[in-house]
Amino acid sequence: MRRPTPDFLWGAATAPHQIEGNNLNSDWWATERLMPGMERSGDACDSYHRYAEDMRLLADAGLNAYRFGIEWARIEPDPGHVSRAELAHYRRMIDTALQLGLAPVVTLNHFTVPRWFAEEGGWTGEKALDRFVSYVQAATGILDGVPYVATFNEPNMLAMMVTLARAVEAGELAEWQSPTVESEGEGGQGTGRPAVLPAPDPEIGRRLADVHAAARSIVRERTDAAVGWTVAAGAYTAAPGGEQKLIEERYVREDLYFEAARGDDFVGVQAYSTQEVDANGLVPTPQHPDNTQVGTAFRPDALGMAIRHSWEVTGGVPVLVTENGIATADDTRRIAYTREALRGLLVTADEGVDVRGYLHWSALDNYEWGHWEPTFGLIAVDRETFERKPKPSLAWLGDVARRGGVLDS
Ligand code: FCB
Repeated sequence: MRRPTPDFLWGAATAPHQIEGNNLNSDWWATERLMPGMERSGDACDSYHRYAEDMRLLADAGLNAYRFGIEWARIEPDPGHVSRAELAHYRRMIDTALQLGLAPVVTLNHFTVPRWFAEEGGWTGEKALDRFVSYVQAATGILDGVPYVATFNEPNMLAMMVTLARAVEAGELAEWQSPTVESEGEGGQGTGRPAVLPAPDPEIGRRLADVHAAARSIVRERTDAAVGWTVAAGAYTAAPGGEQKLIEERYVREDLYFEAARGDDFVGVQAYSTQEVDANGLVPTPQHPDNTQVGTAFRPDALGMAIRHSWEVTGGVPVLVTENGIATADDTRRIAYTREALRGLLVTADEGVDVRGYLHWSALDNYEWGHWEPTFGLIAVDRETFERKPKPSLAWLGDVARRGGVLDS
């Protein structure tokens, strides 16, 4: 079997709002305050101050990459007002990663935006493209030495959230639904939330694709980084009779976004589980004792399926796995899941897919968009003292990295 090359990235991923804490000027901070049923991010993991410790744990374990985001709401607290101090903060993060031997993979937008941008109309507002472009112009000044830049994290999920927010505004939805939490409780103890999220409005997706293309040009002009965006890949399959519907659902939920990646230097693939589509659409995941804390099926094979699908739809754009992981309180299951997922990844590499790296979601147990209960981390965090406790899965993944992708049985 073909082995990953020594420059293959082995790492873990995070997002600013989920770990930094006190992201006061962001739209999410405001939403958390307003939405019934939503837990608040608060101090999160205090990684805004403790990022060096987080990175050192990853590097010491044997990993060579770290994906993190920079927060627009901090960098541009008011329209046109760029904070040099915040840019310097993120530059220090990049330097720290480089000094520790971690390739920094930097996300420019991971769902959250400045509150003023949301108030101006957000992604569907008239000024969206210009506003993002001017933020990216400021941000590209600190990206020297960064090998990979993702403009947007999961634009398909983002478009879905904008679609959901509209439904809430229109009074069609009473309660917040987390984009990542289908129905909580390991073993599929649901809380009664609908298990199928609405399809994102394709108009919003096309808009994000335009914004992405504009941002991509700036990143290419002003940095040496490979640039792309990351797509939430559903690894959808057809139930009997669902063959045609699968094509339609998959187009609005992900293929539109994979197609928009055709001109990119890489595409971020983010896969967790699979889901079936029948003649009526997405089939809710049946309750099962193996289901994860977020109600998804235990399907580590989703990763290989998603990589292959991305390769097909993009027509051969290099793949970087920017997220893959499992919400579980049982770290042994995390290792078992990840081992199988990596096996699937190695098979796709063997088939000839250009896979550049694997970044596990997540480095830390973090704030999961309205919920603290799901634990995806390789490292546990005490929410009062902020003490970090690496789990056995961190050492395990670090060993796999050190062995260049040789998996134990
Ligand atoms: C993805 C998000 C990420 C995290 C994981 C579990 O959809 O990009 O922030 O919430 O799911």
